[in-house]
Amino acid sequence: MRVGDLWAMWVCFFRSLVKLLTLTILVAIVLSALRNATVKEVTKPSPLPAEEYRLLSPETYSYIFNQPDACKKGSPFLVFMVPVAPLDSSARDAIRETWGAAGQSTITLFYMGVPKEGQVKSIQDKLEEESNNYSDVIQMNFLDSYENLTIKSMMIMNWLATYCPNATYAMKVDADIFVNVFFLVRLLSSSPRNNYIAGSVISDGKPRRDRNSKWHLSKHLYPEDNFPSYVSGAGYVFSIDMAAKVSWASRFVRRIPIEDAYVGLCLHVLGVQPVPSRSWLVFGRNLFEIRNLDYDRCTFARLVLVNGFQPSRLRQAETTCFS
Ligand SMILES: *[C@@H]1O[C@H](CO)[C@@H](O)[C@H](O)[C@H]1NC(C)=O
Ligand SMILES: *[C@@H]1O[C@H](CO)[C@@H](O)[C@H](O)[C@H]1NC(C)=O
Ligand SMILES: *[C@@H]1O[C@H](CO)[C@@H](O)[C@H](O)[C@H]1NC(C)=O
Ligand SMILES: *[C@@H]1O[C@H](CO)[C@@H](O)[C@H](O)[C@H]1NC(C)=O
Repeated sequence: MRVGDLWAMWVCFFRSLVKLLTLTILVAIVLSALRNATVKEVTKPSPLPAEEYRLLSPETYSYIFNQPDACKKGSPFLVFMVPVAPLDSSARDAIRETWGAAGQSTITLFYMGVPKEGQVKSIQDKLEEESNNYSDVIQMNFLDSYENLTIKSMMIMNWLATYCPNATYAMKVDADIFVNVFFLVRLLSSSPRNNYIAGSVISDGKPRRDRNSKWHLSKHLYPEDNFPSYVSGAGYVFSIDMAAKVSWASRFVRRIPIEDAYVGLCLHVLGVQPVPSRSWLVFGRNLFEIRNLDYDRCTFARLVLVNGFQPSRLRQAETTCFS
């Protein structure tokens, strides 16, 4: 055999190999696309049966105290919605005196259900006085309990969509959280105004099957082994359009008593990915610090929120770090 023939054979072989490879890749892409299409079809949600949706439907409950005009005095840039137990007036006071004090562009409202004791007159009288004094108390007639936090969050979404559609952002934030309002507003001023939700993202969350866990979730309620990405319930901020969207999506998602994972399931239906809020200044530091930081070093001045604050600590942090 001549050298030229050998060379021609090699070229031929090489060409066939390239063709084969190209074909394989094309087939793989087509198959993947087909599989993606069928997966999408399978997971396309259908509305919940009326009986299952009832507990999460805003129509089921009515307001005992409401603040329908809270957003009418100029459209706020950012609305803080704080879910809180009816009896926890000391947390509300601390927030009013610190980060929750109305600023030029922010307002703060407190959201609650009815205490286990029922609408006891002494409790309700005190709430009414508080509501008259501060015009920031919203109460609905569902039972205020840990398991019902999902209901509370969905009612918050519905309230925002109904009474505050002209705000720019809203934030659901727990009552034991320290919020750095100045820093947050600055962060938001350059954030998207649509389909945006940010916070401490949990992307590898799994349901706890352990019966003794506070977050126990039975296979019956939630058969899947994973949660889609969600933002920690301690505090998450979103563009105001998300309130109506999440509220709508809840028609398709069975209630689980884990509020933040539930919101994540709604986001999954909407195809919205939560955004991890990391600083581009401080080397990817999580700005929504959900661990309980030692506040002495006043790291807070460069964070959006930190959790684990009792009312007295909240006041202390405010005077020490920000005066
Ligand atoms: C199929 O879905 C996966 C994951 O969602 C994605 O990475 C991939 O690009 C998709 N493939 C096609 C062909 O759309
Ligand atoms: C929102 O703004 C529009 C236009 O400025 C106004 O007509 C509407 O009444 C506002 N809605 C609320 C709920 O404040
Ligand atoms: C409401 O305001 C009055 C007058 O400032 C005050 O005496 C009272 O303690 C306040 N009540 C509540 C529940 O905050
Ligand atoms: C949740 O709230 C509903 C409506 O008030 C009530 O019937 C139910 O008992 C509550 N569930 C829990 C576990 O607290």
